[in-house]
Amino acid sequence: MKILVLNGPNLNMLGIREPDLYGKVSYAALVRMVERYCAERQIECECYQSNHEGDLVDRIQAAYGNTDGIVFNPGAYTHTSVALLDALKAVQIPTVEVHISDVSSREEFRQISYVRLACFATITGHGLDGYLEAIDLIRERFGKA
Ligand code: DQA
Repeated sequence: MKILVLNGPNLNMLGIREPDLYGKVSYAALVRMVERYCAERQIECECYQSNHEGDLVDRIQAAYGNTDGIVFNPGAYTHTSVALLDALKAVQIPTVEVHISDVSSREEFRQISYVRLACFATITGHGLDGYLEAIDLIRERFGKA
């Protein structure tokens, strides 16, 4: 099983950006955590982060035909990007939307999620554990619970 863990803009600043909201753990530490979790479960995983919408579209397209699931935190593009929604719809790879913070209790403009329309589950407000929960959901979907 192969999973792509995709992070959008400013998530490379984890540990530095708004630690009250996003915690004090760095992006590099998140990647290590995810890689270890996957390795323990014989899952091949690739972590990719970009601050650029088109790069994220390219990475989703590149997953077509070779990736079983996507764990996706699109950052602020969650609330703006029809292009990312369309990319997910194009490849039809089972995707879980993840947000570190509880977006449902934040500003009005964060209440819209375009990518959610192409995701089979959403996890918000569980901190970095949300990424691991998303991996579990994809495994369950493939009968590997
Ligand atoms: C976020 C929530 C978004 O609204 C925000 O723009 C982010 C991070 C989260 O993980 O909680 O960059 O996706």
